[in-house]
Amino acid sequence: MNAPQQTELRRLHAGTALMKGPLQDARHLPGEIYTSEGIAALEKARIFTKRWLAIARVEDVPKPGDYVTHTIAGEPVIVSRSSDTDIAVFRNACLHRGIEVAVGAGNTRVHRCPYHSWAYNPAGELVGAPWTKEACHDLSGYRLAPLKSAVWRGWVFVNFDAEAAPFEEFIAPMEDELWYYQTGQCRVAFRKVIDLDCNWKFVMENLLDFYHAMTVHMASFATQYKFRSGDVPMKLLPDGAVNAVFGSDMRENFPFIYPELPWIKGRTDFVSGKAALFPNLNLFVNQESIRTSTFWPIAPGRMRLVMSFLLPEETFKVPDFDIKLEKYRRQIDTIVGEDSAVLLALQRAAGSEGYQPGPMVNMEIGMQHIIRNYLQVMGL
Ligand code: FES
Ligand SMILES: [Fe+2]
Repeated sequence: MNAPQQTELRRLHAGTALMKGPLQDARHLPGEIYTSEGIAALEKARIFTKRWLAIARVEDVPKPGDYVTHTIAGEPVIVSRSSDTDIAVFRNACLHRGIEVAVGAGNTRVHRCPYHSWAYNPAGELVGAPWTKEACHDLSGYRLAPLKSAVWRGWVFVNFDAEAAPFEEFIAPMEDELWYYQTGQCRVAFRKVIDLDCNWKFVMENLLDFYHAMTVHMASFATQYKFRSGDVPMKLLPDGAVNAVFGSDMRENFPFIYPELPWIKGRTDFVSGKAALFPNLNLFVNQESIRTSTFWPIAPGRMRLVMSFLLPEETFKVPDFDIKLEKYRRQIDTIVGEDSAVLLALQRAAGSEGYQPGPMVNMEIGMQHIIRNYLQVMGL
């Protein structure tokens, strides 16, 4: 890191001190954390190429040869079904000149580079490279750079860091606490992908912000909850993870559309919940469905949100399934629209020279927890 960046970091370190103290003294982060190119570069180095990240669903690649591509902080990757039993994740970067060998999603026996036709099988191994033998190049053993990956509850996780601790170690402390979010027993009913002109952390924070619900979401879902200040039942977990548990005493006016999730049927102590894994997986569950969000930096002031709506297999067979799904689609469109407006406003505020971070309130406890972890990981 060069000298100006060190100076910038020292200044930001001072500006984040209050966030690390008790909630009653805590203040939100300085605007620069959301606008700085230097911070975005550091996030890539310390978070997005170092941590376990949920990038795809196993159901996205059900058959051998199926693949989906993804870009993580500017680094292109392929998630590929290499055999009936294996999913491989590797860099989407040709071994000749580095360009992407696959785009979008699909099924293929060979990923053929669009520039000079080097060809790779679904395991990422080089299986053809025109005229390289004549040039006496021995390319045996060449393969697209593999990345560490793991499967958990229907998700494919990836980690760029070859030295990273195994996924099982990362998830172990959360496993029991997040039992309710059985995403492996569900499949995606629909997805919503949206690019927003805001920093990815505003979405990380907003998805844990119960305080805004009564202002922003009265038209969509806030009336279903009995929110009271200081009353959010938020559990703070290791590594910045959180889980908020709502029993039936905190929910009202909830209109059932689909059958209850089989694993929670009849429970009253946990009828909905909200959880987050640092950095960028957020989970919401209610009596009948699961909603997941992942969010990805594109630039300091731009990010991509991928929202998936999941249901158990049996629910897809209920009468009028599509009509009922349309209600959820509309509700989620409304929620995303409500949030988008404030997210863009937050980014504008962060870029304003007059912005002074204000105090946090009780209902922001989960947000403070994940931000503290962010600051620690970033060394800020
Ligand atoms: S860049 Fe891929 S074959 Fe040349
Ligand atoms: Fe919201």
